[in-house]
Amino acid sequence: MSAIGQKITFFGFGSQGRAQALNARDSGWKVAVYLRPESKRIAEAQKEKITVITDPKKAAQETDIAVLLLPDTEQPEFYKNFLEPTLPKKAALVFAHGFNIHFKQIMPRSDLDCLLVAPALQGDGLRKNYLEKEPVPILTAIDQDATDRAYRLVEDLAGAIGGEKTHIIPTTFKEETETDLFSEQAISCGGLTGLIKAGFDTMVEAGYNPDIAYFCALKEMKALMDVIYQHGIQGMRSRISDTARYGDLTRGPRVIDKEAREKMKTILDEIRSGKFKEELLEEKKAGWPVLRRRLAEEENHLIEKVRKKIDEQ
Ligand SMILES: NC(=O)c1ccc[n+]([C@@H]2O[C@H](COP(=O)([O-])OP(=O)(O)OC[C@H]3O[C@@H](n4cnc5c(N)ncnc54)[C@H](OP(=O)(O)O)[C@@H]3O)[C@@H](O)[C@H]2O)c1
Repeated sequence: MSAIGQKITFFGFGSQGRAQALNARDSGWKVAVYLRPESKRIAEAQKEKITVITDPKKAAQETDIAVLLLPDTEQPEFYKNFLEPTLPKKAALVFAHGFNIHFKQIMPRSDLDCLLVAPALQGDGLRKNYLEKEPVPILTAIDQDATDRAYRLVEDLAGAIGGEKTHIIPTTFKEETETDLFSEQAISCGGLTGLIKAGFDTMVEAGYNPDIAYFCALKEMKALMDVIYQHGIQGMRSRISDTARYGDLTRGPRVIDKEAREKMKTILDEIRSGKFKEELLEEKKAGWPVLRRRLAEEENHLIEKVRKKIDEQ
């Protein structure tokens, strides 16, 4: 039996919450959203004609499927206080990232189905692809199948969130958590921003115009990334000049050299051993001092000043 017709509640209406709730609604599901009473996003959800519930226990009591889309570090306390005592028996608890299950920050009640439906896209991209009927890759896994319906449910849910062209990729909570953390730390967020800034700094320190350095180090990334996304790395190489191709293949390995690869392995080890998780939870407990300091430092970097100047022109 399809899960459409059951009541699904998205806890949170941020990047993922908004996209997932709207996609599920447009796929014909009975959708509600929980937001805290002071949330500035209530009006936005109501404008989309989505039912908003601001009492967390009421939201939990009234749902068949609870999709927990609060920030990962906020989820454990929220689950303990509101979901564990109130979710109906045999409800489903759904995550978009495996962190709290894999690292045992949340131990779901044994009567609940516990599922992972993790889009490999940011919220805006998830909504855009859904509307444009573009393929949406979704990683799925099952931690608990208390009702014998978890396999069907995970597929139905992925289809509701990803639309017609959902590309389901089966995984485990462990694999999704470790690869996602590694990817955002070493590649897509930390690695990428580090590469852009190091390239920009090198050009500026050598005396080049910061505006030119900004375009070379940052803006040009998008065009290349679009080609790689569509045609792969070798496909990109077949579309660039022979000069660029030769520079790529002979200089690229000197930038990401043996030492850089060793550092990647250390970062992955820290994730797998739980060292990163401990550090993150301590940082949250202390009120995010490192995060605040590092964000302020980055705000003062020349590349941000160049960006603001160019965007204002
Ligand atoms: N961002 C992504 O692209 C992405 C991709 C894949 C998976 N995920 C996963 O999706 C989940 C949600 O991440 P997100 O990036 O979508 O989060 P987000 O944009 O930061 O949104 C968080 C939502 O939770 C609410 N919230 C925050 N703290 C709360 C609290 N203590 N009590 C009640 N409500 C609270 C916020 O409401 P207010 O309006 O009140 O602030 C907001 O609606 C995470 O598990 C994340 O790992 C995210």
